[in-house]
Formats: sequence, C-alpha cells, structure tokens
Amino acid sequence: MADFDGKVVIVTGGALGMGGDTAVEFVRNGASVVIADLNTEAGDRRESDIRAEGGRALFVESDVALADDARRVVDGAVAEFGGVDILFNNVGIQPVDSYKNVEDTPESMWDRILDVNLKSYFLMAKYAIPEIRKRGGGVIINNASVQGLQSQYLVPAYAASKGGVLSFTRQMALDYAPENIRVLAICPGTIDTDMVRTVAAAEGGDIEVTLDRYGAGHPVGRIGTGQDIANLVMFLASDKSSFMTGTHVMIDGGYMALGAWAGGAGADTGQ
Ligand SMILES: NC(=O)c1ccc[n+]([C@@H]2O[C@H](COP(=O)([O-])OP(=O)(O)OC[C@H]3O[C@@H](n4cnc5c(N)ncnc54)[C@H](O)[C@@H]3O)[C@@H](O)[C@H]2O)c1
Repeated sequence: MADFDGKVVIVTGGALGMGGDTAVEFVRNGASVVIADLNTEAGDRRESDIRAEGGRALFVESDVALADDARRVVDGAVAEFGGVDILFNNVGIQPVDSYKNVEDTPESMWDRILDVNLKSYFLMAKYAIPEIRKRGGGVIINNASVQGLQSQYLVPAYAASKGGVLSFTRQMALDYAPENIRVLAICPGTIDTDMVRTVAAAEGGDIEVTLDRYGAGHPVGRIGTGQDIANLVMFLASDKSSFMTGTHVMIDGGYMALGAWAGGAGADTGQ
C-alpha cells in the first residue's frame, strides 16, 4: 500500500460517496486530508470521524464551482497543513431531473452541471498547482466516468462534462510534466454511492433490486464500491505509478469491454 506520510491531499466532494471513502483511505495511509464539500453536516461528520481515529482532516464548506470557494479550499490546506501535494478532483453531479435531450435541457441545468463537473476541476487545479509546485511536484487525479468515452441516452450536459474532463486531463498533463506534476483520470462504471442510489430510487421499486440489475450489466456481476475507487486512487497518487500521466484508467468491472452488440450482460446500469 502507498505511504502518504507527510503528504497533503485535497478531495473535492470528499464528504460522501467515493470521495469520502478515498479521503479515509488517504488518511489510513498517512496523509492529511482537506475535504471540500457543499454538504456541511456530512463534511463535519467526515472530519470528526477521521479525527476520532487519530487522523488529520480539515473540512472546508465550499461550492468548488465558485472561484472564491476553490481558492479558500487551497488556502485552508496551506494554513492547516502547510501545502498541497495531491488533488483529487472528484466532485460531480447528475441530477435526476437532468435526463433530457438538448432541446429540453434548461440553460441553467447545462451551466450548473458543467460548472460543477468541469469548471471546478479547472478552478481547483488553477489554485492548487502553485502550491504543488512549491513541494517539487505532485499528482492531480480527475474523476471522469465511462460516460466520458461512451454515452447513454438523455445526458447531454453530463456526457459533455465527462468528455471534457478526459481532454482537460491530457492537456494539463502536457503542460506540467516538466514540473513533475502528473495528471490522470479515472473512469468508473456504476459505483454504489448516494448519486447512484438517487438515480435508482427515481426508477421506483426496490433500490437493492435495481442495484443488482445494474450489477448484472457489468461482466463481473456487481457494481463497484467506494473502496474499489479508493484503492485505484492510492496507486495513481503514489510513486508506484510514476511513469503514468495524461491518461485515464477504466474501473468498471469490464463494462466498457462489453460490446453493445454482444448481448449478455447488457442491462441498463444507471451510469
Ligand atoms: N457513482 C457512480 O456510479 C459514478 C460513475 C462514474 C463516475 N462518477 C463520478 O464520480 C464522482 C463522485 O460521484 P459519487 O457517486 O461519489 O457522488 P455522490 O453524489 O455520492 O457524492 C458527491 C459529493 O460531492 C458533493 N458536492 C456536490 N456538488 C458539490 C460542489 N459544487 N462543491 C462541493 N461539493 C459538492 C456532495 O455533497 C457529495 O458529498 C463524480 O464526479 C461522478 O460524476 C460516479
């Protein structure tokens, strides 16, 4: 397992979901973690749970789609822990009322999804990079999706945001490789988080049955967990992946290996 002793990590959307599990895993491996999240109750709880176990965590209530808040998160990391080494741009939204074609998508919905899922990655990188540079380098990991590469119906803004994350990842990796700042993306399949449970609940019926159906659509026969994501992020943020930058890693139980023409596990999977 990677050792992050002395490292400072920022996780956006780190109160719940895969961000929460990844924040905890970083702390278990020695890091100090700054959790940036809108959800005050969940952020406070995450911070106090980590501290109760003897870990170092700081919750910064923030909407990271706003420049002032993004800057405040980075300032908080510097004030509390002395710098920034690793940024996990994880935050993302896919509101249940956003499943519409382009004509029916309100401009405000498009803007909000792009602001949270893509612009916040730009803002956090913009303010974190000067601090990462002071430490002699570091790693930025961007959470994209299988939807950055293929699509489902009626998700124009989400699809555009995730495709943008992958392109942005490649681009930043080029500019900052000479400064020992690696930039990588992950592409999760369906992961058991609040986001997916909300989508499953919107279908009506028993959520567990719906999640099992999503799982059946993945060749390994289950959906992923936040811990699956945390395990991958530990590797990508560590020196064990030091020859990797400017690319993305699928973490999808084989979902993207399955052709739409192949039948079999082709159930609808929520993501
Ligand atoms: N769950 C999946 O199946 C899945 C699949 C592929 C990709 N993803 C991506 O993974 C990432 C994490 O998703 P998740 O399922 O853990 O989501 P989640 O909804 O369970 O958790 C997201 C967290 O982000 C916070 N948040 C939302 N908007 C914010 C903002 N503007 N500023 C700060 N915090 C904010 C929420 O309060 C929450 O704590 C997202 O980028 C998502 O698009 C999810």
